[in-house]
Parts: sequence; C-alpha cells; structure tokens
Amino acid sequence: MNVIQKKDKIKLFKEGQELPYHLLLLADETIEAIDKYIHQSEIYIYERDGETVGIYACQLMDGESLEIKNIAVSEDCQGEGIGQKLLTHAISNATKRGFKFLLIGTSNAAFRQLYLYQKMGFRFYKVLTDFFTKNYQQEIIENGLVLNDMLLLRKNL
Ligand code: ACO
Ligand code: ACO
Repeated sequence: MNVIQKKDKIKLFKEGQELPYHLLLLADETIEAIDKYIHQSEIYIYERDGETVGIYACQLMDGESLEIKNIAVSEDCQGEGIGQKLLTHAISNATKRGFKFLLIGTSNAAFRQLYLYQKMGFRFYKVLTDFFTKNYQQEIIENGLVLNDMLLLRKNL
C-alpha cells in the first residue's frame, strides 16, 4: 500500500536543529555509535504535516563514493513507501553531484532491508566480518539471529 501524501516533503536538515535521535536509534543501537558519523553527515528529513517521520544521513567516503550511514522511518509510517522515496532521493542527489557509487551497510539479520536495498539496485559488495561483535558491547539479536557481520551493498550511479 502506498499512502504517500502530496504535501509530504524531503528537506535538508539544517545545522543547529535538534537531531531526531528517536528516529536515528531505529537504525542504530546507541547514541554513541550514531555520534561517530552523524556530525560529519549530510542529513535529509521526510516531513509530513510539519512532523519529521523519516530521515537519512549520508557521509562522504572518498571523492567518488557516498555512504548512507543511517536511514529510518517512524514505526507508525513504515511500509508506506517512505523508505523507497528516501533512497530514490539519495540516489538522485548523489548522481547529480557526480558521485560514482552509493554505499549502504546493514546487518546479516536485516532481511527486509536487504530486500529493499537490492530492489533499489544495490548489489552486495563486501562483508565486514564481526563488525557488530567488535563495535558493540552488548550482543544484539534481530530476527532471531545474533548480529555479527555487516553486509555492505553498493549501487553504481
Ligand atoms: N516485511 C517484509 N517486507 C516489508 C515489510 C515487512 N514487515 N514492510 C514493508 N516491506 C517491504 C515493502 O513491501 C516494500 O517492498 P514492495 O514495494 O516490494 O512492497 C519494501 O519493504 C520497502 O518498503 P517502504 O515502505 O518503502 O519502507 P519503509 O518506509 O518501511 O522504510 C526502513 C524502510 C527505512 C528500513 C524502515 O522500515 C525502518 O526505519 N526500519 C527500522 C530502521 C532500519 O532498520 N533502518 C535501516 C538500517 S541500515 C542503515 O541505516 C544504513
Ligand atoms: N518462510 C520462512 N522461514 C521458514 C519457512 C518459510 N516458508 N518454512 C520454514 N522456515 C524456517 C523454519 O521455521 C526453520 O526455522 P526455525 O527453526 O527458526 O523455525 C528454518 O526455516 C528451517 O526449517 P526446516 O523445516 O528445517 O527447513 P526445510 O526442511 O524446509 O529445509 C530447505 C530447508 C532445504 C531450504 C528446503 O526448504 C528446500 O528444499 N527448499 C528448496 C530447495 C532449496 O532452496 N535448497 C537450498 C538451495 S542452496 C543449496 O542447495 C546449497
């Protein structure tokens, strides 16, 4: 079901505004982990009726690649197509600016995300073995599996 509303907007997040950690924390485990990239990222928000219901943050990796470090949609708006709209925005923004690659990483247990990213044209690129076990103190369980490896996907622009 796609219930995107015409007046919904994707906007550049302005510096000085309060970061919506409640959304960022849907895609990452801790504020400490988010703070490692969020202040060097370009952030876009998805606004509906003046409320921020979606977000993505992109970081420059090198002269030819950007990486989406965090993408999230509020729980009550998931499954409406907003995630796809945000990814389409990120792809077109990176393409217009002349980047060659857009990267996105997710865990070994994130089946739905892996489906979505492949549907949007991302292909498997690298496995960062033990990324989650090395970088997070607590064991994280998702979809009945322990998170251990980060799967990095890449889209050619
Ligand atoms: N199970 C399986 N597939 C589903 C489900 C579900 N429960 N719900 C939706 N989908 C499918 C949709 O059907 C759609 O595919 P389709 O068009 O073929 O039907 C696809 O997933 C994408 O749906 P959207 O509605 O565009 O996605 P959404 O707005 O929910 O955004 C997102 C996706 C960002 C992953 C969102 O669900 C979310 O915030 N999840 C929690 C945070 C998260 O995991 N973020 C990504 C972490 S990785 C990173 O940040 C780099
Ligand atoms: N959707 C999602 N998960 C399911 C489903 C389903 N429809 N059916 C079962 N599962 C889960 C089970 O719940 C179980 O997990 P759980 O213990 O946490 O509940 C897990 O999958 C394994 O279930 P089994 O019943 O042991 O698996 P099954 O006897 O169905 O065998 C197999 C799995 C071999 C993949 C079988 O489904 C099959 O023959 N599929 C078609 C052929 C195939 O794809 N083979 C593998 C190709 S790769 C290769 O051959 C190297």
